[in-house]
Amino acid sequence: MSQPKILVLGPPGAGKGTQSSNIVEAYDVDHITTGDALRANKDMETEYGTPRSFMEAGELVPDPVVNEIVKAAIEDADGFVLDGYPRNLSQAEYLDDITDLDLVALLDVDREELVDRLTGRRVCDDCGANFHVDFAPPEEEGVCDECGGELIQRDDDTEETVKERLNVFEENTQPVIDYYEDEGELVRVDGEQSPDEVWDDLQDAIEDAI
Ligand code: AP5
Ligand code: MG
Ligand code: ZN
Repeated sequence: MSQPKILVLGPPGAGKGTQSSNIVEAYDVDHITTGDALRANKDMETEYGTPRSFMEAGELVPDPVVNEIVKAAIEDADGFVLDGYPRNLSQAEYLDDITDLDLVALLDVDREELVDRLTGRRVCDDCGANFHVDFAPPEEEGVCDECGGELIQRDDDTEETVKERLNVFEENTQPVIDYYEDEGELVRVDGEQSPDEVWDDLQDAIEDAI
């Protein structure tokens, strides 16, 4: 059987990255995440400017840039978990044209909780592992449990930029969720539980789908 193709949707801070890591480990698929790909190429010159200018303002990077990243990554992957894409209806239509999905899962989390999660998030500068000062603290403050690297705060995790990212989500990405819901394809997972409980529910949904 070929490997599963899973889309994880959710607002900024819902736990897409956290749960995608679990999926990668359990199902041996590629993690395709436009956010990480763009962060690794923040100063890449495109005809629209650099990704940095959009990301630091909390705005979407133009569709042609992200569509190309996703197309190349999907062509290279056997199975995958897609995280952070599609973020508007035109990206969702593009994705429809290039692949079929086994599961579309939404991590459902309220807005108030998201602000706390994002402003308290710390990420490893070396391996990208995710922590949270209160909800998932590392054993030693500022040091990655996985690789010993330095933990830093993302440039877009300031309170002001977080609020703009949440507004952009409401305006652009909520219609994508409605689109999959109308198609009868959306599986909702309660993302406000502990990370392990979220993973239990998400894994059940994956097992049902494949
Ligand atoms: P991206 O990197 O995709 O950011 P995002 O969607 O805003 O999502 P996050 O990565 O912030 O959150 P997450 O859901 O992965 O949560 P995490 O697991 O880290 O995109 C960044 C930017 O890139 C965009 O703003 C845009 O500019 C650009 N971009 C990206 N894709 C694009 C696209 N398709 N089109 C155009 N532009 C694009 O968890 C968050 C925190 O909560 C962590 O600290 C974690 O430890 C903690 N946590 C996780 N789960 C739980 C839990 N169950 N309980 C308590 N705490 C938890
Ligand atoms: Mg993420
Ligand atoms: Zn690390």
